[in-house]
Amino acid sequence: MSTTSSPETNSKRFLAEAAMRRSWFPVARITDLGKPQTATLLGTNLVIFRDGAGDVAVLDRRCPHRGADLSKGEVHEKSIGCPYHGWEFGTGTGACVRVPSLADQAKVPARAGVKSYPVELRYGHVWTVLEDPIRPVYDVARWKGLDLEWLAGPVMDSSVGVGITIENFRDVAHFPFVHKVSMGPTPEVVEPLAVTRDGLDIHMERELNAGTGEWAEDGDAMMYYECSAPGLATITYNYERLGHRIVAGFPCPVDYNTVKIFWGVANEVGYKGAGLEECLRIEEIVYREDLPIVEGMDPREIPWDAEVQEYSVPADMFTLNFRRSFNELITRAKTALESEKEQDHDYATA
Ligand code: FES
Ligand SMILES: [Fe+2]
Repeated sequence: MSTTSSPETNSKRFLAEAAMRRSWFPVARITDLGKPQTATLLGTNLVIFRDGAGDVAVLDRRCPHRGADLSKGEVHEKSIGCPYHGWEFGTGTGACVRVPSLADQAKVPARAGVKSYPVELRYGHVWTVLEDPIRPVYDVARWKGLDLEWLAGPVMDSSVGVGITIENFRDVAHFPFVHKVSMGPTPEVVEPLAVTRDGLDIHMERELNAGTGEWAEDGDAMMYYECSAPGLATITYNYERLGHRIVAGFPCPVDYNTVKIFWGVANEVGYKGAGLEECLRIEEIVYREDLPIVEGMDPREIPWDAEVQEYSVPADMFTLNFRRSFNELITRAKTALESEKEQDHDYATA
């Protein structure tokens, strides 16, 4: 496992990373697949591409011949070719399917493939998972039946982990301090938060009264906050006059303490408010107000092993529930690791 430090294998921080290795994350925007894309997911370097037949693949980026970068290569009908000596690796499998220097292709080294990862296309992004997933890729129940059109936002770098990023995304007590410009004056006192949790999913509803910020024209709405451990944070706005719009964030852990923030907006077809481009513009202002604040946070990820003392108040109810969900994911990862260890032991002693 690639980490920025070497956590004890029985520490929660280690298990949090193990849980994320078994969780789906976005690694590219679908709109960028006109050429191969690169991503690093928890230290694993990936290439993401759409082949000539239209299928999308996520493969290890390093060519196993001499280590060239496959993302600089050429896409073929059902493979990607290495830019150095042209070896080709199949879309679905990562198997080496052609070595141009060989007169007889039957002599392709049988084991010279690259690792291939599962692919899901959802919410304007390509999603993948490094190891056996603990749970399926997020499927937000509230969005079922809504005819949604997605627009992926510009990818942003942030020097904190997935947990801190999600907590920031859905924290409500920071609005009057961090989002003065985008939201206008908002109340400092946070009402009792109606938070519910169901396993890995957290839900909260709030009323949005027309304010003085960027959204002042839109009128009143209900806001449905839905988060899911480890890495989904969404708000679905249901405006009395306009219909539904959504903003969703799904940070991808480059390593344990660093993310690339993939995110997007969606409007239901027929939405009467701002168009997708405008929604994206406004939401980007909000994100960019948050980034300098989280930049300075210490520690850079949730202190799972109580490395520091933190204090909470009722306004942190959503965050605390998110941590419970993440904790449940950690427990599931631990169970999976233990059962694998037992199996290994059974094989060794059989
Ligand atoms: S390094 Fe990739 S084909 Fe030689
Ligand atoms: Fe914020």
